[in-house]
Order: sequence, then structure tokens, then C-alpha cells
Amino acid sequence: MTDVPHVPVLKEETLGFLQPGKGKRIIDGTFGFGGHSLAMLETGADVLGLDLDAVAVETCRRISSDRHRLKCMPISFRHLDRAMAAVGWDKVDGVLLDLGVSSFQLDDPAKGFSYRMDGPLDLRFDQEAGRTAAELLANSSEGEIADLIWKWGEERASRRIARALVRARTEAPVDTTGRLRTVIEEVLPRGMKPQPVLSRVFQALRVAVNEELDALSEVLAMLPGLLRPGGVFVVIAYHSLEDRMVKQFIAREKRDCLCPPDLPVCVCGHRRVLKALTRKPVTASAQEEEMNIRARSARLRAAAIL
Ligand SMILES: C[S@@+](CC[C@H](N)C(=O)[O-])C[C@H]1O[C@@H](n2cnc3c(N)ncnc32)[C@H](O)[C@@H]1O
Repeated sequence: MTDVPHVPVLKEETLGFLQPGKGKRIIDGTFGFGGHSLAMLETGADVLGLDLDAVAVETCRRISSDRHRLKCMPISFRHLDRAMAAVGWDKVDGVLLDLGVSSFQLDDPAKGFSYRMDGPLDLRFDQEAGRTAAELLANSSEGEIADLIWKWGEERASRRIARALVRARTEAPVDTTGRLRTVIEEVLPRGMKPQPVLSRVFQALRVAVNEELDALSEVLAMLPGLLRPGGVFVVIAYHSLEDRMVKQFIAREKRDCLCPPDLPVCVCGHRRVLKALTRKPVTASAQEEEMNIRARSARLRAAAIL
């Protein structure tokens, strides 16, 4: 990772919700380049930065060497409780999750996140753990491959692509981004633009390999117990599946009683634990979108614990 200035997505909006400041404890669950964390440190807050990517954690440690209010841990945000226990934090004032991949990951061919550059078909945030996308494609059935491309990429040509991948792997392993790209391009109907399809298939593989939706669902469920009353969480999502999950979680947890409306009395006993701070997702201004392509698909939602 270089020292080029990095512009975090929806920075002002994020700070506006989290209100970091002296004495506040904030967790940046997706440290990345540290753009949001640096802005929070400047306000005097204590920040715990988590990331699964070795380069991101290394960056965090480098920054923390002269900023002692920053702590760093190589751990998934799905283990937020463990991370807090490790640094002796009982409750926190804020949690930020800026989901997905960062530009340094997309630009590194060795990680295999981008179909634009040839490299190993890896796609893991943590390259020391779990199975790569190449291993996933080698060991899954045609039906499983089709399902994951459909479910996590929302790609309509999922069955056709899965069939082509299973056929291709009998000739040679599909273990580079370039080979995956060729197999997909060859199977698409003439005249169909490959880029959007490639994007969706790569997204699906990334979500599957990193169990991204499981990690998000686990951390959301944990947040009410880890934030102090009045504490705030902010989630910035870049694809609809994640944003929907956050939206539904907030909608559910801001309500007393989840019984069907036709029941005369509440039998579920569910009690609300949070207050939504965003009715609709906050999106980037036209100016930010122009400066930063990633900001175009960003959807921010925030809520405060009661
Ligand atoms: C969009 S970037 C964050 C950018 C950061 N906010 C900044 O301003 O530099 C997302 C980061 O989250 C990390 N990440 C993704 N899933 C994770 C998980 N489950 N636990 C911890 N980090 C994760 C990725 O490795 C990546 O570095």
C-alpha cells in the first residue's frame, strides 16, 4: 500500500453520526487504508481498527506507532466481542463498518479481486485462512456454483456460466482470474457486454469465499449488546444484498412486538433496542461521486442504541 492520500467514502456523514471526540471509544471494523480512522483519531477519540487483510493491518500498525490512541487487530468484525475483550473494552460509543473491498485490494493482482488483471483466483481478504475461489470452483457441484452466482451476484446467466465452468475444469483448473474471465466471455450470447456479468460473478465469489453476509449478520446481532446506550453504529454498503440486510435489521430492532398485525395481543415479547438515525440510506453528493467512483454505489445507514 502506498502513501497516496486516500479519501474515505461519506467521511463527513460518518463523523456526523458517530460524533467521535475525546474519551470516546470507536471501533473501525474495516480499517482498510485507515481513512475513517484517521479522521476519528483527529477528534481525540480512541480507535480500535480491525481488518482481515494483512496489508491493512500492517498499515494500521504503522499509523499506530505514533498515534497511541489507535489499536489494531487482525480479526474479522464478526468477532467484535472477542476483539473488545482482547483490548479490555466493555462497551463502545461507536462502530463503523465500511464494507467490501478497498481500492488497494482491487489494484493488487495477487489477491484476484479484479477481472481486469490476471492473477491467482484467490479473492480472500485473509490470504492465510479459508479456501480460495479457485478451490471453491474446483470442489463445488454445478448446482452449487449456479446457486452462489445467482444468490450473491444476482446474475441471470448463472446456470449457463456454472455449466461452462464445470466443463472447463475437466480440461484445466479454473485457477486464475484470466481463465475465469475467458470461460465466462466465451459462454455469453453474442452482443452481450461481458463487464457487468464479470463484475457480478466476481462479487458472488468474493461474498462466498469470505462468508460476507454471514459475517455481517453476526456482527449486526451483536451490536446492541456491545454499544453503550446512545452509542451509534454506521454501516456503509456497496451492494443491495448487504444494504437490505442492514435495512431489515434496523427496521426489526426499532420495533416493539413483531407479531402478525391480526394478533390481538403481543405474544413474541420482542422489545425495541435501537432508534434509526437514517430513514433512507444516505448517499454521496454529486461532487463526491465525481471525485470517487466507489462512492457511487455507497449506501450509509446508521442507528443509535436506546
Ligand atoms: C472499503 S474498505 C475500508 C476502507 C476504509 N474505511 C478506509 O477509509 O480506508 C473495506 C475493508 O474491510 C476489510 N474487511 C472486509 N471484510 C472484513 C471482515 N469481515 N472483518 C474485518 N475486515 C474486513 C477489507 O479487507 C478492507 O480492507
